[in-house]
Amino acid sequence: MKVIGLLSRKGGSGKTTLTVHLGVLAQAVGLRTLLIDLDPQHSAADWWRAREAETPQLVQTAPAELRDVLDVALTDGVDVVVIDTRPSAAQDAALVAALSDLILVPTRPSILDLRAILDTIDIAQGAARRSLIVLNACPPPRGAGEASLTGDARRAVAAFGVPVAPVPIVNRTMFASALLTGLTAGEADPGGKADREMRALWRVVEKELNHGKGYIAERAGDEKTARARAAGAGH
Ligand SMILES: Nc1ncnc2c1ncn2[C@@H]1O[C@H](COP(=O)(O)OP(=O)(O)O)[C@@H](O)[C@H]1O
Ligand SMILES: [Mg+2]
Repeated sequence: MKVIGLLSRKGGSGKTTLTVHLGVLAQAVGLRTLLIDLDPQHSAADWWRAREAETPQLVQTAPAELRDVLDVALTDGVDVVVIDTRPSAAQDAALVAALSDLILVPTRPSILDLRAILDTIDIAQGAARRSLIVLNACPPPRGAGEASLTGDARRAVAAFGVPVAPVPIVNRTMFASALLTGLTAGEADPGGKADREMRALWRVVEKELNHGKGYIAERAGDEKTARARAAGAGH
C-alpha cells in the first residue's frame, strides 16, 4: 500500500482538488483507492457525498485516528491512499508526512504563495519523505511553452531543495465545476485539457510511487540520453 499526503499550510492551494482528481485516476487504473479527509471543513467528503460512483472510497477522520484507519486499509487490501489535510496545522502535517510515501505540496504560482510553502517543505524534509511541489492554478500556457509566471515560479522553487512536478496544473473552470456534481474534470470532460493535464500529473505521481527510482532519476537519465544524442548529432 502506498500513501500520498497532500500538504500545504495555505488554504486554497489545491489540496482537495488534487486529492480527488488523483484518487479517481488511481482508481481508474485498477488500484484500490481510499481517500482520507482529515480537514474539518470536509470538502473532499462533501464532494464524495455528491458523487454517484462508490469508488474511490472515502473516510472522514481525525489525525488521532489516522494510523488506525491506515492499518484497516492495509488489511482491506487498499493499494493507494490519498490524504487530504487542513491548512495551518503543523502537527497534522508532521504526522501525515511521517506516514506518507510521497508528499505532494500544491501551490499557486505567485511569490507570496511560494514563500508560504517553505514551512511545509521543512516538515516534508524533516520526515525525509519523497516530496514533489505541484504548481497549481497556473495561467494557461502560451503557445508551446508554459506561461512566464509558471516558469518564474518553477525557477523560484528550484532553490527550495524539493523537486517540482514537470507538469503544471492550469487554472481551469472545469477543475472547480466538475467537483460540484461529485465528478472530476476528467469524468465531466474526458479528453479535455484539464483531463490531459491531470493524467500527465498522475503519471508522474505513479512513477514516484511505483519505482523506487522516481522521476528525478528518470529525468537525470533522460537528460543524459538527450546530451548523448546532442553530442552524437554534432558529428
Ligand atoms: N487548477 C485549478 N483550476 C481552477 N480552480 C481551481 C484549481 N485548483 C483549485 N481550484 C479552486 O480553488 C479553490 C481552492 O482549491 P482547493 O483544492 O479546495 O484548495 P485547498 O484544499 O488547498 O484549500 C476551490 O474553489 C477550487 O475549486
Ligand atoms: Mg481543502
